Amino acid sequence: MKLKHFYESQQLEPDIINEFFNRADLLRTQNSLQILKGKVLATLFYEPSTRTRLSFEVAMLKLGGNIISTENAREFSSAVKGESIEDTIRVVSKYVDCIVIRHFEDGAARKAAEVSSVPVINAGDGKGQHPTQALLDLYTIYKELGKIDCLKIAMVGDLANGRTARSLCYLLGKFKNNEIIFISPENLKMRYDIKEYLLRHNVKFSEEKDLDKVLPNVDIIYMTRIQKERITLDDYEKAKGKYVIDLSNFHIIKHSSRILHPLPKIDEIKLPTKIEHSDQRVAYFRQAENGLYIRMALLIHLLT
Ligand code: CP
Repeated sequence: MKLKHFYESQQLEPDIINEFFNRADLLRTQNSLQILKGKVLATLFYEPSTRTRLSFEVAMLKLGGNIISTENAREFSSAVKGESIEDTIRVVSKYVDCIVIRHFEDGAARKAAEVSSVPVINAGDGKGQHPTQALLDLYTIYKELGKIDCLKIAMVGDLANGRTARSLCYLLGKFKNNEIIFISPENLKMRYDIKEYLLRHNVKFSEEKDLDKVLPNVDIIYMTRIQKERITLDDYEKAKGKYVIDLSNFHIIKHSSRILHPLPKIDEIKLPTKIEHSDQRVAYFRQAENGLYIRMALLIHLLT
């Protein structure tokens, strides 16, 4: 299976996921690669980012390629003059070999892919998806636990707007006997489209209110932040601080379990730095590093 673009998690099947994992494992041991020498990657970011943009750019540089970037395209690209995303992509795709786009509108990356003459990668589209994050999340689960099936996964936080949790549900649904437990404030529950997908793919899921009841019984705790920028202040006030991991409940998490978070984290995880540095259950910084190798693997897949 060969991808032309990567705009949603549903595009991936287990064989290609395994290919990415194997390649990412190799890439973390290699230096001075020139696989993408002479190729240029454009990163067009209409929303802020630390990890996704920088890891894609470093991934391209480590593979011998070059980058051009608009880190604040909403303000400093011709979008400000009213140019459509389609026109921007038609033009940029004639300058470069691959486009990584983050946009504030759901479905923007797919729209971009439809008119692009080069591969387009979705780096997050509004409340839609963040499929490369889901791929690196799954890779992290594989690295930490040695398997990506037969797992109990708690997804916690703003599940209505969190595009990473949505994308990860699609991927978890591709592997057998995974069970997902959604824990979110009443006003930010996982949306129907994902639940419908899970039902259709026979993936067991449930909704729980009590985080502490769930924590001792799961393999993965996937924490997410409340997406303040996507909801009303009223909704934010209702949801903030509702589900937190701190010293009062960290001890009830099994030593074999892992806490993941796509980051940035705000106040939904409040653990001392010493614990974050040394306790194996804290996996979110290793997770962010894994993103570099997975994105290198993805660029090689799309550009060679
Ligand atoms: N996880 C993630 O998308 O982080 P950034 O917003 O920093 O890219």
